[in-house]
Amino acid sequence: DWNPGNVIAEQVERIRAQVGSARVIAGLSGGVDSAVAAALVHKAVGDQLVCVFVDHGLLRKGEREQVETDYVAATGIRLVTVDAADTFLDALAGVSDPETKRKIIGREFIRAFEQAERDLIAEAAADGEPIKFLVQGTLYPDVVESGGGTGTANIKSHHNVGGLPEDLQFELVEPLRTLFKDEVRAIGRELGLPHEIVGRQPFPGPGLGIRIVGEVTRDRLDLLREADAIAREELTAAGLDDDIWQCPVVLLADVRSVGVQGDGRTYGHPIVLRPVSSEDAMTADWTRLPYDVLAKISNRITNEVREVNRVVLDVTSKPPGTIEWE
Ligand code: XMP
Repeated sequence: DWNPGNVIAEQVERIRAQVGSARVIAGLSGGVDSAVAAALVHKAVGDQLVCVFVDHGLLRKGEREQVETDYVAATGIRLVTVDAADTFLDALAGVSDPETKRKIIGREFIRAFEQAERDLIAEAAADGEPIKFLVQGTLYPDVVESGGGTGTANIKSHHNVGGLPEDLQFELVEPLRTLFKDEVRAIGRELGLPHEIVGRQPFPGPGLGIRIVGEVTRDRLDLLREADAIAREELTAAGLDDDIWQCPVVLLADVRSVGVQGDGRTYGHPIVLRPVSSEDAMTADWTRLPYDVLAKISNRITNEVREVNRVVLDVTSKPPGTIEWE
């Protein structure tokens, strides 16, 4: 019968056998899969592993700290953070088209990761133990979906900004290849990883960059980050995290509407709440959230987030609407 302790013990053995004394590199996204995969590898080979986290400036409130502080404290993993927010924002300047944004973010992500990689390769070479392996948090459903190939980075490009360069000189370590998401979460909990990471709902690799309809700017990211944090806080406070698959919060940056706030009329932006229920994200329905929770979120966002004077609810199923707006 399945239990997380056995899987951990088994994977630790396998990882040790595969890796030997070589060095290993892992990318962290802030999500559960990469966090659990890296933690397993760390348990197996300790400081032979180094993790890379690219802060692209499109993260939600608290996510960088969850990785840099909480995750590192829980695991003792060596982490290199790449501060790439300026580079990403420069590259995104003037761009509104969703596909173009995704391409730019994907390209910059690979660049930032490769730069970190080169630095680490040089350092490891100086120490005489080359980096030979790359960790990927591939799950069983990913394996099935991509035709079961082994040994290459064959994750659908759209779905993982963490999807790494094709021309890797690395062999992959994929300790989650036989597992489903709920099993990965159970292993994460058993390994003592932070609750915010283990329980995190899906969040797209391109981050808040595809939740701003319009150009991505630092100001707009700040607005959206605040609104998103309020929505998440209230959904959690109401005990609704298990009832929703995820709840994108979207800033309609190219839309303005008239409002009345304080002493006068305002001309601000709408925020969209997109709570969905789903089994696998292939189809979804909009979640019938309690009105009092929606009211609380709406009041707080319009009171606390400058330039937002309206909150609207997306009541579209998938299909025809996708879960994300871009
Ligand atoms: P859509 O919007 O296509 O989203 O209904 C389906 C699921 O995939 C997530 N999503 C992404 N995840 N990189 C990711 O890692 C992406 O580029 C990406 N685009 C969408 C979305 O949040 C939902 O869970």
